[in-house]
Amino acid sequence: MRKILPYFAGSRLKGILAPLFKMAEAVSELIIPLIVAEMIDNGIANSDKRYIVLLGIQMIILGSIGLALSITAQYFAADTAVSTVKRLRHDVYTKIMGMSYSDYDKIGSANLITRMTADMDSVQNGINLTLRLLLRSPFVVAGAVIMSFRVDRSASMTYAVIVPVLAVIIITAMILSVSLFGKVRARLDRVLISVREYLTGTRVIRAFNIEDRQVEEFRSLNNGLTALQKAAGAVSSAVNPLTSTVVNIGIAALIYSGAVRVNAGLLTTGAVVALYNYMSQILVELIKFANLINSIVKSLACAKRISGVLSTEEHKPNTNETASAEGYINFKDVSFAYDGSSEYSVENISFEVGKNETVGIIGSTGSGKTTLMNLLCGNYKPEKGSISIDGASVFSAGFEKIKNRIAYVEQKPLLFTGTVRSNLTMGKEDISDEDIVKALRAAQAYEFVSERDGGIDCEVLQGGKNFSGGQRQRLAVARALCSKPDILILDDASSALDYYTDAKMRDAISEYGNSTVFIVSQRTSSILSADKIIVLENGKMEIGTHSELLKSSPVYREIHYSQFEEDEAI
Ligand SMILES: Nc1ncnc2c1ncn2[C@@H]1O[C@H](COP(=O)(O)OP(=O)(O)O)[C@@H](O)[C@H]1O
Ligand SMILES: [Mg+2]
Repeated sequence: MRKILPYFAGSRLKGILAPLFKMAEAVSELIIPLIVAEMIDNGIANSDKRYIVLLGIQMIILGSIGLALSITAQYFAADTAVSTVKRLRHDVYTKIMGMSYSDYDKIGSANLITRMTADMDSVQNGINLTLRLLLRSPFVVAGAVIMSFRVDRSASMTYAVIVPVLAVIIITAMILSVSLFGKVRARLDRVLISVREYLTGTRVIRAFNIEDRQVEEFRSLNNGLTALQKAAGAVSSAVNPLTSTVVNIGIAALIYSGAVRVNAGLLTTGAVVALYNYMSQILVELIKFANLINSIVKSLACAKRISGVLSTEEHKPNTNETASAEGYINFKDVSFAYDGSSEYSVENISFEVGKNETVGIIGSTGSGKTTLMNLLCGNYKPEKGSISIDGASVFSAGFEKIKNRIAYVEQKPLLFTGTVRSNLTMGKEDISDEDIVKALRAAQAYEFVSERDGGIDCEVLQGGKNFSGGQRQRLAVARALCSKPDILILDDASSALDYYTDAKMRDAISEYGNSTVFIVSQRTSSILSADKIIVLENGKMEIGTHSELLKSSPVYREIHYSQFEEDEAI
């Protein structure tokens, strides 16, 4: 909550005015029962029509003032809520953009989406209601109690009983719903995660004919959620009838004792009506208050989740590690394990790479290739050892500039909705059409792009789904080339290409410009001409050239000869 409070700063005035206006409105509401009493006791009792009309006009004026105050207050409250959440959403988004990969792994994208959407809505709603009601409801209740004491001290003793009973009911309900709501939210997260998985995996699920099982699993998750929500609903739906019953008993008592006292001439009829009105006001406000507390509890839980995102560490730990001077890129005894994993995903990695060298990285799936490349980019922090590029340690302040000069093409690259051009330039304006065409040609993508309507301005649908997997890979390579990187990482970026296209692309890239290139592949053919080849197995490495490794590394030999007959092997 402390993290969220500063976001109110920009709306301070409106945020203060909203509850004040609401209370001013409440004052006008509290006066009306007195006018009604006056109307009954003096206007109707004396059949004084003029007096009745006069009081009626007073009521209309008072009501209109109340309405104007209320509308203004609602406006201030809504404006404060919307503006505060807008600022908050902006910062959370920025935070997510700069989040470290390990935090991202921990929270997960489905949860981040909920933080940005449903949780934000709930906080917004909570702020709005709080500003309008948190002060107003107790104010009206207290005001109504005081006014009734003024009207008739003894009949008002009923309040002394009713109000504490109501307080107990509401506080109990509040405590119950706080704990239930936390559980509902956690369960909802699980349902969301599974929906997301089912949706992204629909094709696989259909291909394996396991729809029924998935539906069954989902049903049980969903039922669990429903049961919790019903329990939470039962608590909150019990509050209204309970409070109504208590208040109505109170009203009955008031009317009864009032009637007795009217008969005895101790009280006027108008006073009884006013007392009844105050009691009804208390009921309405308490019900509103109970609902308000419910919403506040929900919003606070959501606010807590949002501040969880806000309090993740900025992805720039600035350690005092000194960089090794040797080589352009230097890995020294690097070991790394993902959060929650007891085994290292890469272990004792040491190697050097000179500027503009080409490095091949090969190994079976899960051997740690992608992990190694993420470490190079500074996406994760190694547990042991040090990594440096061009004299800057990967986690030092000087690294940010170098990081911007690394282009990383993933195996399943993401394209954005837009055009081929917008995907290649990524908003940079200094990239000319020639640059784009040159990059497309090198990535072996020019041909299929120029065949499309609009050429380089042809449309790219969401996720690039109007391109095949291999075409998407080539567009991603072209995108990386467009940024003219110092270091280019192709992480299995040609896995969907045929050998011939793959070879042409590699040739074109090596002639393209001055870059240090990492080619991650499962095919030896893609990397055999590299200056250095790193062979990974279970996170451990061997290094050498193709011919050296053929002699020294059984793993490399096995991979190579499984792809080429021994006699035709190069
Ligand atoms: N984000 C992650 N969280 C936890 N474990 C991971 C994550 N990414 C990869 N791993 C694990 O690290 C190991 C190496 O994975 P990875 O580097 O992706 O291999 P490769 O790219 O060679 O297929 C695997 O055992 C994998 O399960
Ligand atoms: Mg990989």
